[in-house]
Amino acid sequence: MKTIKVGLLGLGTVGGGTVDILQNTMPEIQRRLGQSIEIVIIAVRDLNRPRSVDTAGIALTDNTFDVVNHPEVDIVVELMGGTGLAKELLETAIKNGKHIVTANKALIAEHGNSLFALARENNVIVSYEAAVAGGIPVIKAMREGLAANKIEWVAGIINGTGNYILTEMKKPGADFAKVLKVAQELGYAEADPTFDVEGIDAAHKLTILASIAFGIELQFNKVYTEGISKVSADDIRFAQQLGYEIKHLGVASRAENGYSLRVHPTLVPKEVLIANVNGVMNAVMAKGNHVGPTMYYGPGAGAGPTASSVVADIIDIIRWKDQPKADQVPALGFAADQLESAPVVSIDEIECCYYIRCLVKDQKGVLSKVSAVFAESDISIENVHQEPSSEKADDAKLVLITNKVKESSINQALASLAELDAIDGDIMRIRIETLG
Ligand code: NAP
Ligand code: HSE
Repeated sequence: MKTIKVGLLGLGTVGGGTVDILQNTMPEIQRRLGQSIEIVIIAVRDLNRPRSVDTAGIALTDNTFDVVNHPEVDIVVELMGGTGLAKELLETAIKNGKHIVTANKALIAEHGNSLFALARENNVIVSYEAAVAGGIPVIKAMREGLAANKIEWVAGIINGTGNYILTEMKKPGADFAKVLKVAQELGYAEADPTFDVEGIDAAHKLTILASIAFGIELQFNKVYTEGISKVSADDIRFAQQLGYEIKHLGVASRAENGYSLRVHPTLVPKEVLIANVNGVMNAVMAKGNHVGPTMYYGPGAGAGPTASSVVADIIDIIRWKDQPKADQVPALGFAADQLESAPVVSIDEIECCYYIRCLVKDQKGVLSKVSAVFAESDISIENVHQEPSSEKADDAKLVLITNKVKESSINQALASLAELDAIDGDIMRIRIETLG
Protein backbone atom coordinates (compact mmCIF):
# COMPACT_ATOMS: atom_id res chain seq x y z
CA MET A 1 0.00 0.00 0.00
CA LYS A 2 1.34 3.45 -0.93
CA THR A 3 2.23 5.77 1.98
CA ILE A 4 1.83 9.55 1.82
CA LYS A 5 4.21 11.51 4.02
CA VAL A 6 3.06 14.40 6.13
CA GLY A 7 4.94 17.05 8.12
CA LEU A 8 3.32 18.96 10.98
CA LEU A 9 4.01 22.50 12.14
CA GLY A 10 2.85 22.46 15.79
CA LEU A 11 2.00 19.75 18.29
CA GLY A 12 -0.33 21.58 20.66
CA THR A 13 -4.08 21.00 21.08
CA VAL A 14 -4.86 20.44 17.39
CA GLY A 15 -1.48 18.96 16.46
CA GLY A 16 -1.78 16.44 19.30
CA GLY A 17 -5.31 15.56 18.18
CA THR A 18 -4.09 15.04 14.61
CA VAL A 19 -1.28 12.71 15.67
CA ASP A 20 -3.75 10.81 17.85
CA ILE A 21 -6.18 10.23 14.95
CA LEU A 22 -3.45 9.24 12.51
CA GLN A 23 -2.02 6.78 15.05
CA ASN A 24 -5.26 5.28 16.30
CA THR A 25 -7.69 5.36 13.38
CA MET A 26 -5.33 4.47 10.53
CA PRO A 27 -6.89 1.10 9.64
CA GLU A 28 -10.25 2.78 8.98
CA ILE A 29 -8.58 5.65 7.09
CA GLN A 30 -6.65 3.14 4.95
CA ARG A 31 -9.93 1.40 4.08
CA ARG A 32 -11.38 4.73 2.91
CA LEU A 33 -8.27 5.86 1.05
CA GLY A 34 -6.57 2.73 -0.17
CA GLN A 35 -3.34 4.41 0.91
CA SER A 36 -1.58 5.03 4.20
CA ILE A 37 -0.49 8.28 5.86
CA GLU A 38 2.71 8.69 7.86
CA ILE A 39 3.83 11.67 9.90
CA VAL A 40 7.57 11.95 9.32
CA ILE A 41 8.45 15.25 11.01
CA ILE A 42 6.89 17.71 13.48
CA ALA A 43 8.16 21.18 14.38
CA VAL A 44 7.56 22.54 17.89
CA ARG A 45 8.82 25.56 19.77
CA ASP A 46 10.04 23.71 22.85
CA LEU A 47 11.61 20.29 22.26
CA ASN A 48 11.66 19.57 26.02
CA ARG A 49 7.93 20.03 26.62
CA PRO A 50 6.19 16.76 27.57
CA ARG A 51 3.70 15.66 24.86
CA SER A 52 0.33 13.96 25.27
CA VAL A 53 0.96 11.71 22.24
CA ASP A 54 3.61 9.16 21.38
CA THR A 55 6.14 10.67 18.99
CA ALA A 56 8.38 7.59 18.69
CA GLY A 57 9.56 7.22 15.10
CA ILE A 58 8.73 10.85 14.20
CA ALA A 59 11.53 13.42 13.87
CA LEU A 60 10.94 16.39 16.19
CA THR A 61 12.59 19.69 15.35
CA ASP A 62 12.50 23.25 16.60
CA ASN A 63 13.42 24.51 13.13
CA THR A 64 10.11 24.97 11.32
CA PHE A 65 11.84 25.22 7.94
CA ASP A 66 12.98 21.58 8.35
CA VAL A 67 9.32 20.66 7.78
CA VAL A 68 8.54 22.81 4.76
CA ASN A 69 11.85 21.92 3.07
CA HIS A 70 11.70 18.21 3.95
CA PRO A 71 12.27 16.29 0.69
CA GLU A 72 9.91 13.43 1.56
CA VAL A 73 6.97 15.50 2.84
CA ASP A 74 4.00 15.67 0.42
CA ILE A 75 1.60 17.58 2.69
CA VAL A 76 2.47 20.27 5.25
CA VAL A 77 -0.08 20.57 8.05
CA GLU A 78 0.12 23.99 9.74
CA LEU A 79 -1.21 23.89 13.31
CA MET A 80 0.93 26.51 15.05
CA GLY A 81 -1.10 29.69 14.51
CA GLY A 82 -0.10 33.30 13.85
CA THR A 83 0.15 35.21 10.59
CA GLY A 84 3.86 36.06 10.35
CA LEU A 85 6.08 32.99 10.44
CA ALA A 86 3.15 30.73 9.46
CA LYS A 87 2.67 32.73 6.23
CA GLU A 88 6.36 32.59 5.35
CA LEU A 89 6.44 28.85 6.04
CA LEU A 90 3.39 28.10 3.91
CA GLU A 91 4.69 30.23 1.04
CA THR A 92 7.94 28.26 1.16
CA ALA A 93 6.08 24.94 1.32
CA ILE A 94 3.87 25.89 -1.65
CA LYS A 95 6.89 26.95 -3.72
CA ASN A 96 8.41 23.57 -2.81
CA GLY A 97 5.34 21.92 -4.36
CA LYS A 98 3.83 20.76 -1.07
CA HIS A 99 0.09 20.68 -0.46
CA ILE A 100 -1.19 22.50 2.62
CA VAL A 101 -3.68 21.79 5.36
CA THR A 102 -4.19 24.53 7.93
CA ALA A 103 -6.52 25.22 10.87
CA ASN A 104 -5.33 28.82 10.95
CA LYS A 105 -8.33 31.08 10.25
CA ALA A 106 -6.36 34.26 10.97
CA LEU A 107 -3.91 33.32 8.22
CA ILE A 108 -6.61 32.40 5.70
CA ALA A 109 -8.80 35.43 6.47
CA GLU A 110 -5.90 37.89 6.30
CA HIS A 111 -3.64 36.33 3.65
CA GLY A 112 -5.79 33.72 1.92
CA ASN A 113 -6.15 35.73 -1.32
CA SER A 114 -2.39 35.70 -1.95
CA LEU A 115 -1.82 32.17 -0.59
CA PHE A 116 -4.51 30.71 -2.85
CA ALA A 117 -3.05 32.55 -5.86
CA LEU A 118 0.41 31.19 -5.08
CA ALA A 119 -1.03 27.69 -4.67
CA ARG A 120 -2.71 27.93 -8.10
CA GLU A 121 0.58 28.98 -9.69
CA ASN A 122 2.27 25.96 -8.14
CA ASN A 123 -0.61 23.52 -8.76
CA VAL A 124 -0.98 22.60 -5.09
CA ILE A 125 -4.03 22.51 -2.82
CA VAL A 126 -4.57 24.64 0.30
CA SER A 127 -7.30 23.13 2.52
CA TYR A 128 -8.66 24.78 5.64
CA GLU A 129 -11.82 22.98 6.85
CA ALA A 130 -10.63 23.12 10.48
CA ALA A 131 -10.33 26.90 10.32
CA VAL A 132 -14.10 27.42 10.61
CA ALA A 133 -16.34 25.84 13.24
CA GLY A 134 -13.85 23.14 14.35
CA GLY A 135 -15.32 19.71 13.73
CA ILE A 136 -18.26 20.78 11.56
CA PRO A 137 -17.52 20.16 7.87
CA VAL A 138 -19.13 23.48 7.01
CA ILE A 139 -16.65 24.56 4.33
CA LYS A 140 -17.36 21.42 2.36
CA ALA A 141 -21.12 21.66 2.97
CA MET A 142 -21.37 25.25 1.76
CA ARG A 143 -18.72 25.20 -0.95
CA GLU A 144 -19.72 21.91 -2.53
CA GLY A 145 -23.06 20.82 -1.07
CA LEU A 146 -24.81 24.16 -1.69
CA ALA A 147 -23.12 24.86 -5.04
CA ALA A 148 -26.47 24.94 -6.88
CA ASN A 149 -27.67 27.88 -4.81
CA LYS A 150 -27.31 31.61 -4.66
CA ILE A 151 -26.65 32.03 -0.95
CA GLU A 152 -28.79 34.79 0.57
CA TRP A 153 -27.23 34.93 4.02
CA VAL A 154 -25.06 33.06 6.48
CA ALA A 155 -25.27 33.38 10.25
CA GLY A 156 -23.49 31.37 12.85
CA ILE A 157 -22.15 30.78 16.31
CA ILE A 158 -18.56 30.37 15.18
CA ASN A 159 -16.51 30.74 18.33
CA GLY A 160 -16.65 27.86 20.78
CA THR A 161 -14.98 29.76 23.62
CA GLY A 162 -17.46 32.63 23.39
CA ASN A 163 -20.45 30.33 23.27
CA TYR A 164 -19.08 28.35 26.21
CA ILE A 165 -18.71 31.57 28.22
CA LEU A 166 -22.20 32.86 27.36
CA THR A 167 -23.68 29.47 28.27
CA GLU A 168 -21.85 29.23 31.60
CA MET A 169 -22.84 32.82 32.44
CA LYS A 170 -26.48 31.70 32.60
CA LYS A 171 -25.58 29.89 35.83
CA PRO A 172 -26.05 32.02 38.97
CA GLY A 173 -22.82 33.56 40.27
CA ALA A 174 -20.72 32.60 37.22
CA ASP A 175 -17.58 34.69 36.90
CA PHE A 176 -16.45 35.70 33.38
CA ALA A 177 -12.71 35.40 34.11
CA LYS A 178 -13.04 31.99 35.75
CA VAL A 179 -15.18 30.61 32.93
CA LEU A 180 -12.67 31.85 30.36
CA LYS A 181 -9.88 30.11 32.30
CA VAL A 182 -11.76 26.79 32.08
CA ALA A 183 -12.24 27.28 28.31
CA GLN A 184 -8.48 27.81 28.02
CA GLU A 185 -7.77 24.66 30.04
CA LEU A 186 -10.09 22.70 27.76
CA GLY A 187 -7.99 23.80 24.75
CA TYR A 188 -10.79 25.88 23.20
CA ALA A 189 -9.28 29.37 23.38
CA GLU A 190 -6.81 31.05 21.05
CA ALA A 191 -3.22 31.66 22.22
CA ASP A 192 -4.43 35.22 22.87
CA PRO A 193 -7.97 34.77 24.25
CA THR A 194 -8.85 38.38 23.40
CA PHE A 195 -9.33 37.00 19.89
CA ASP A 196 -12.22 34.88 21.23
CA VAL A 197 -13.71 37.36 23.68
CA GLU A 198 -13.53 40.44 21.44
CA GLY A 199 -14.85 38.68 18.34
CA ILE A 200 -11.66 38.76 16.23
CA ASP A 201 -11.60 34.97 15.84
CA ALA A 202 -15.27 34.96 14.81
CA ALA A 203 -14.54 37.80 12.35
CA HIS A 204 -11.76 35.71 10.78
CA LYS A 205 -14.20 32.82 10.36
CA LEU A 206 -17.01 35.04 9.07
CA THR A 207 -14.63 36.49 6.48
CA ILE A 208 -14.05 32.97 5.16
CA LEU A 209 -17.73 31.98 5.26
CA ALA A 210 -18.77 35.15 3.43
CA SER A 211 -16.25 34.52 0.66
CA ILE A 212 -17.46 30.97 0.18
CA ALA A 213 -21.11 32.00 0.34
CA PHE A 214 -20.99 34.94 -2.08
CA GLY A 215 -17.86 34.36 -4.17
CA ILE A 216 -16.15 37.50 -2.90
CA GLU A 217 -12.51 38.07 -1.99
CA LEU A 218 -11.48 37.64 1.63
CA GLN A 219 -11.92 41.05 3.29
CA PHE A 220 -11.23 40.62 7.00
CA ASN A 221 -10.54 44.30 7.61
CA LYS A 222 -14.11 45.20 6.52
CA VAL A 223 -15.90 43.06 9.14
CA TYR A 224 -17.69 45.04 11.86
CA THR A 225 -16.62 43.36 15.09
CA GLU A 226 -18.00 43.54 18.62
CA GLY A 227 -17.08 41.06 21.35
CA ILE A 228 -18.95 39.63 24.33
CA SER A 229 -16.94 41.28 27.10
CA LYS A 230 -19.64 43.91 27.77
CA VAL A 231 -22.53 41.40 27.96
CA SER A 232 -23.54 41.11 31.63
CA ALA A 233 -25.35 38.38 33.53
CA ASP A 234 -28.22 40.92 33.76
CA ASP A 235 -28.42 41.12 29.95
CA ILE A 236 -28.60 37.34 29.68
CA ARG A 237 -31.33 37.18 32.35
CA PHE A 238 -33.37 40.07 30.88
CA ALA A 239 -33.11 38.59 27.39
CA GLN A 240 -34.43 35.28 28.68
CA GLN A 241 -37.31 37.00 30.47
CA LEU A 242 -38.22 38.66 27.18
CA GLY A 243 -38.11 35.37 25.24
CA TYR A 244 -34.58 35.48 23.80
CA GLU A 245 -31.12 33.96 24.24
CA ILE A 246 -27.97 36.02 23.72
CA LYS A 247 -25.63 34.47 21.16
CA HIS A 248 -22.41 35.82 19.68
CA LEU A 249 -23.22 35.67 15.98
CA GLY A 250 -21.34 36.23 12.79
CA VAL A 251 -23.75 37.42 10.10
CA ALA A 252 -23.02 37.87 6.39
CA SER A 253 -25.81 39.00 4.12
CA ARG A 254 -26.44 40.61 0.78
CA ALA A 255 -27.17 44.34 1.05
CA GLU A 256 -28.55 46.82 -1.47
CA ASN A 257 -25.11 47.98 -2.61
CA GLY A 258 -22.83 45.16 -1.54
CA TYR A 259 -22.55 42.89 1.47
CA SER A 260 -22.95 43.28 5.21
CA LEU A 261 -20.34 41.46 7.32
CA ARG A 262 -20.67 41.69 11.09
CA VAL A 263 -19.92 39.92 14.33
CA HIS A 264 -21.68 40.96 17.52
CA PRO A 265 -23.70 39.70 20.49
CA THR A 266 -27.26 39.12 19.30
CA LEU A 267 -30.63 38.43 20.89
CA VAL A 268 -32.18 35.45 19.11
CA PRO A 269 -35.77 34.31 19.85
CA LYS A 270 -35.70 31.20 22.04
CA GLU A 271 -37.73 29.17 19.58
CA VAL A 272 -35.11 29.52 16.82
CA LEU A 273 -32.95 26.37 16.72
CA ILE A 274 -29.62 28.23 16.88
CA ALA A 275 -30.65 29.94 20.14
CA ASN A 276 -30.41 26.51 21.77
CA VAL A 277 -26.83 25.80 20.71
CA ASN A 278 -24.85 25.78 23.94
CA GLY A 279 -21.37 25.27 25.38
CA VAL A 280 -18.54 24.73 22.91
CA MET A 281 -20.98 23.69 20.20
CA ASN A 282 -21.11 25.84 17.06
CA ALA A 283 -23.82 26.12 14.43
CA VAL A 284 -23.80 27.76 11.03
CA MET A 285 -27.00 28.61 9.18
CA ALA A 286 -26.93 29.28 5.44
CA LYS A 287 -29.95 30.20 3.37
CA GLY A 288 -29.80 29.20 -0.28
CA ASN A 289 -32.35 30.40 -2.83
CA HIS A 290 -33.33 26.81 -3.72
CA VAL A 291 -32.66 24.82 -0.58
CA GLY A 292 -33.98 27.44 1.87
CA PRO A 293 -32.51 27.69 5.37
CA THR A 294 -30.01 25.00 6.40
CA MET A 295 -28.05 24.52 9.62
CA TYR A 296 -24.79 22.71 10.41
CA TYR A 297 -24.11 21.85 14.06
CA GLY A 298 -21.26 20.33 16.02
CA PRO A 299 -18.29 20.96 18.30
CA GLY A 300 -16.54 24.18 17.35
CA ALA A 301 -13.20 23.72 19.11
CA GLY A 302 -11.01 21.23 20.96
CA ALA A 303 -8.47 18.59 19.96
CA GLY A 304 -10.59 15.72 18.60
CA PRO A 305 -13.19 17.73 16.66
CA THR A 306 -10.68 20.09 15.07
CA ALA A 307 -8.26 17.29 14.20
CA SER A 308 -11.18 15.40 12.64
CA SER A 309 -11.45 18.22 10.08
CA VAL A 310 -7.67 18.39 9.62
CA VAL A 311 -7.42 14.68 8.83
CA ALA A 312 -10.42 14.83 6.47
CA ASP A 313 -8.55 17.54 4.55
CA ILE A 314 -5.41 15.38 4.38
CA ILE A 315 -7.54 12.55 2.97
CA ASP A 316 -9.16 14.86 0.40
CA ILE A 317 -5.78 16.16 -0.76
CA ILE A 318 -4.47 12.63 -1.21
CA ARG A 319 -7.50 11.86 -3.37
CA TRP A 320 -7.13 14.97 -5.55
CA LYS A 321 -3.44 15.79 -5.63
CA ASP A 322 -2.45 13.77 -8.68
CA GLN A 323 -5.23 15.12 -10.90
CA PRO A 324 -4.00 17.32 -13.77
CA LYS A 325 -5.41 20.38 -12.03
CA ALA A 326 -5.04 19.68 -8.33
CA ASP A 327 -7.44 22.36 -7.03
CA GLN A 328 -10.47 21.02 -8.89
CA VAL A 329 -12.66 22.50 -6.20
CA PRO A 330 -11.50 26.13 -6.13
CA ALA A 331 -10.29 27.24 -2.71
CA LEU A 332 -13.28 29.53 -2.17
CA GLY A 333 -15.73 27.48 -4.23
CA PHE A 334 -15.90 29.98 -7.13
CA ALA A 335 -13.57 30.07 -10.14
CA ALA A 336 -10.67 32.32 -9.10
CA ASP A 337 -11.26 34.77 -11.98
CA GLN A 338 -14.94 35.07 -11.01
CA LEU A 339 -14.41 36.37 -7.46
CA GLU A 340 -15.81 39.86 -6.90
CA SER A 341 -14.09 42.45 -4.72
CA ALA A 342 -17.53 43.68 -3.68
CA PRO A 343 -18.16 46.64 -1.38
CA VAL A 344 -18.91 45.89 2.25
CA VAL A 345 -21.52 48.28 3.59
CA SER A 346 -21.17 50.22 6.84
CA ILE A 347 -22.86 48.84 9.96
CA ASP A 348 -24.90 52.10 9.93
CA GLU A 349 -26.83 50.67 6.97
CA ILE A 350 -28.25 47.60 8.72
CA GLU A 351 -31.82 47.49 9.99
CA CYS A 352 -32.96 45.43 12.96
CA CYS A 353 -34.75 45.56 16.31
CA TYR A 354 -32.64 46.50 19.33
CA TYR A 355 -32.41 45.57 23.00
CA ILE A 356 -31.47 48.61 25.08
CA ARG A 357 -30.53 48.45 28.78
CA CYS A 358 -29.73 51.40 30.97
CA LEU A 359 -29.80 52.52 34.57
CA VAL A 360 -32.26 55.35 35.21
CA LYS A 361 -32.95 57.49 38.24
CA ASP A 362 -36.03 56.02 39.89
CA GLN A 363 -38.07 59.25 39.59
CA LYS A 364 -41.52 60.14 38.33
CA GLY A 365 -41.73 60.87 34.61
CA VAL A 366 -38.44 59.19 33.63
CA LEU A 367 -40.11 56.67 31.36
CA SER A 368 -41.91 59.40 29.43
CA LYS A 369 -38.64 61.33 28.93
CA VAL A 370 -36.99 58.16 27.62
CA SER A 371 -39.95 57.42 25.34
CA ALA A 372 -39.86 60.98 24.00
CA VAL A 373 -36.24 60.56 22.92
CA PHE A 374 -37.10 57.45 20.90
CA ALA A 375 -40.24 59.06 19.48
CA GLU A 376 -38.13 62.00 18.21
CA SER A 377 -36.12 59.50 16.11
CA ASP A 378 -39.32 57.79 14.97
CA ILE A 379 -38.52 54.62 16.91
CA SER A 380 -41.32 52.65 18.60
CA ILE A 381 -40.82 50.79 21.83
CA GLU A 382 -42.23 47.27 21.52
CA ASN A 383 -41.51 46.05 25.03
CA VAL A 384 -40.44 47.57 28.36
CA HIS A 385 -39.12 45.93 31.49
CA GLN A 386 -38.19 47.81 34.64
CA GLU A 387 -36.92 46.66 38.02
CA PRO A 388 -35.25 48.27 41.02
CA SER A 389 -31.45 48.22 40.94
CA SER A 390 -29.96 46.00 43.63
CA GLU A 391 -26.64 47.85 43.29
CA LYS A 392 -27.90 51.49 43.43
CA ALA A 393 -30.81 52.16 45.77
CA ASP A 394 -32.11 55.26 43.90
CA ASP A 395 -31.86 53.74 40.44
CA ALA A 396 -33.91 51.34 38.34
CA LYS A 397 -32.81 49.02 35.58
CA LEU A 398 -34.70 49.76 32.40
CA VAL A 399 -34.81 47.43 29.41
CA LEU A 400 -36.45 48.32 26.10
CA ILE A 401 -37.01 46.44 22.87
CA THR A 402 -37.43 48.66 19.81
CA ASN A 403 -39.11 48.07 16.48
CA LYS A 404 -36.99 47.48 13.38
CA VAL A 405 -34.95 50.60 12.65
CA LYS A 406 -31.77 51.62 10.89
CA GLU A 407 -28.58 51.45 12.95
CA SER A 408 -27.89 55.12 12.23
CA SER A 409 -31.29 56.06 13.78
CA ILE A 410 -30.70 54.04 16.92
CA ASN A 411 -27.25 55.62 17.30
CA GLN A 412 -28.83 59.05 17.09
CA ALA A 413 -31.45 58.14 19.71
CA LEU A 414 -28.88 56.61 22.07
CA ALA A 415 -26.71 59.72 21.83
CA SER A 416 -29.71 61.85 22.90
CA LEU A 417 -30.64 59.35 25.61
CA ALA A 418 -27.14 59.55 27.08
CA GLU A 419 -27.61 63.32 27.52
CA LEU A 420 -30.67 62.93 29.79
CA ASP A 421 -30.00 63.71 33.46
CA ALA A 422 -32.15 60.72 34.33
CA ILE A 423 -29.66 58.27 32.75
CA ASP A 424 -27.01 56.95 35.10
CA GLY A 425 -23.94 55.41 33.40
CA ASP A 426 -23.45 53.54 30.15
CA ILE A 427 -26.23 52.36 27.84
CA MET A 428 -26.07 48.79 26.54
CA ARG A 429 -27.35 48.07 23.04
CA ILE A 430 -27.66 44.58 21.53
CA ARG A 431 -28.99 43.82 18.06
CA ILE A 432 -31.85 41.35 17.60
CA GLU A 433 -32.01 38.84 14.74
CA THR A 434 -34.93 36.54 14.01
CA LEU A 435 -33.02 34.52 11.35
CA GLY A 436 -36.18 33.74 9.43
P1 NAP B 1 -1.47 25.44 20.64
O1 NAP B 1 -2.05 24.41 21.51
O2 NAP B 1 -0.96 26.70 21.25
O3 NAP B 1 -0.30 24.76 19.80
C1 NAP B 1 0.56 25.49 18.98
C2 NAP B 1 1.71 24.58 18.59
O4 NAP B 1 2.55 25.26 17.67
C3 NAP B 1 2.58 24.16 19.77
O5 NAP B 1 2.98 22.82 19.65
C4 NAP B 1 3.81 25.08 19.63
O6 NAP B 1 5.01 24.47 20.11
C5 NAP B 1 3.89 25.24 18.14
N1 NAP B 1 4.51 26.51 17.77
C6 NAP B 1 4.01 27.75 17.95
N2 NAP B 1 4.88 28.66 17.49
C7 NAP B 1 5.94 27.98 17.00
C8 NAP B 1 7.16 28.34 16.42
N3 NAP B 1 7.48 29.62 16.23
N4 NAP B 1 8.03 27.37 16.05
C9 NAP B 1 7.73 26.07 16.24
N5 NAP B 1 6.57 25.65 16.79
C10 NAP B 1 5.69 26.60 17.17
O7 NAP B 1 -2.51 25.91 19.52
P2 NAP B 1 -3.78 25.11 19.00
O8 NAP B 1 -4.93 25.39 19.90
O9 NAP B 1 -3.42 23.72 18.68
O10 NAP B 1 -4.07 25.95 17.66
C11 NAP B 1 -3.26 25.78 16.52
C12 NAP B 1 -3.94 26.45 15.34
O11 NAP B 1 -5.22 25.85 15.13
C13 NAP B 1 -4.22 27.94 15.50
O12 NAP B 1 -4.14 28.57 14.26
C14 NAP B 1 -5.67 27.98 15.99
O13 NAP B 1 -6.32 29.18 15.68
C15 NAP B 1 -6.25 26.84 15.20
N6 NAP B 1 -7.43 26.20 15.76
C16 NAP B 1 -7.47 25.82 17.05
C17 NAP B 1 -8.59 25.16 17.54
C18 NAP B 1 -8.69 24.71 18.96
O14 NAP B 1 -9.75 24.23 19.36
N7 NAP B 1 -7.64 24.83 19.76
C19 NAP B 1 -9.67 24.92 16.69
C20 NAP B 1 -9.61 25.32 15.36
C21 NAP B 1 -8.48 25.96 14.90
P3 NAP B 1 5.19 24.12 21.67
O15 NAP B 1 4.20 23.03 21.95
O16 NAP B 1 6.59 23.64 21.78
O17 NAP B 1 4.90 25.40 22.40
N1 HSE C 1 -10.66 29.59 19.77
C1 HSE C 1 -11.51 29.02 18.79
C2 HSE C 1 -12.91 28.87 19.35
C3 HSE C 1 -10.99 27.69 18.36
O1 HSE C 1 -13.06 28.96 20.57
O2 HSE C 1 -13.84 28.72 18.58
C4 HSE C 1 -11.77 27.08 17.23
O3 HSE C 1 -11.59 27.80 16.05
